[in-house]
Amino acid sequence: MAEPSDNSTQTPLENSLLPTGEGIVIDIGTGDGLFVYRCARRNPTKFYIGIDANPRPLEKISEKIHRKPGKGGAENVLFLQAAIEDLPSELEGVADEIHIHFPWGSLLQAIVQGDVDILRSLRRLCSTDAFLEIVIGHDPDRDRSEIDRLQMPTLSTSYIDSVLTSAFTDAGFEIVERGECSSGSWPEVQTSWAMRLERNKSRSLFYIIARATANSSMSRVVS
Ligand SMILES: C[S@@+](CC[C@H](N)C(=O)[O-])C[C@H]1O[C@@H](n2cnc3c(N)ncnc32)[C@H](O)[C@@H]1O
Repeated sequence: MAEPSDNSTQTPLENSLLPTGEGIVIDIGTGDGLFVYRCARRNPTKFYIGIDANPRPLEKISEKIHRKPGKGGAENVLFLQAAIEDLPSELEGVADEIHIHFPWGSLLQAIVQGDVDILRSLRRLCSTDAFLEIVIGHDPDRDRSEIDRLQMPTLSTSYIDSVLTSAFTDAGFEIVERGECSSGSWPEVQTSWAMRLERNKSRSLFYIIARATANSSMSRVVS
């Protein structure tokens, strides 16, 4: 999952993330930017944009990308401060892949509640046939106070099928793969929060892979 590698035809979730080794990849809720940075260093022919509402954890890596490549630099990276609720219109139509890994707060709430307005704003970033990958770490006991605060349902694959599939469809996405991985069977996700949460034995990982579609309700919104 998550780390697209140049010209590879296989990804850990056996999904269809761009196999060509080219394109623009957007990571929303990028946190400290590690995923974007590592992918950009491995895939120099792709361009990576990391977006987060909170720029502070990005300070170190934002400095590092400007070094010479031999000293850890990466010219194919841009970090932006923006919230999912207010994404820059300049990014409309540019993304070949969008990733959201281990969201929290309003980003998590929007995804898990299937907020169609937010999903449509993600869809607006997409180029034709772009892929959206969402990875959520979920522990209904440990996360109880946050689940209650955000008034979120308990996540399950049947919840994804019965509620989120139609919200994604309304927004112009087709869910092509979804699932749950219990602790101990997580695929490799190269982000700081994946490494942190993986140690928690009771936390499941849910993933959704969706593809942008040409959808009539979508065209009404865009036009
Ligand atoms: C748990 S961290 C995950 C960071 C990174 N994706 C990772 O896996 O290491 C969740 C991130 O979501 C960001 N976030 C929360 N709400 C957001 C919103 N409404 N718009 C954009 N980013 C948001 C937070 O600032 C935080 O960096």
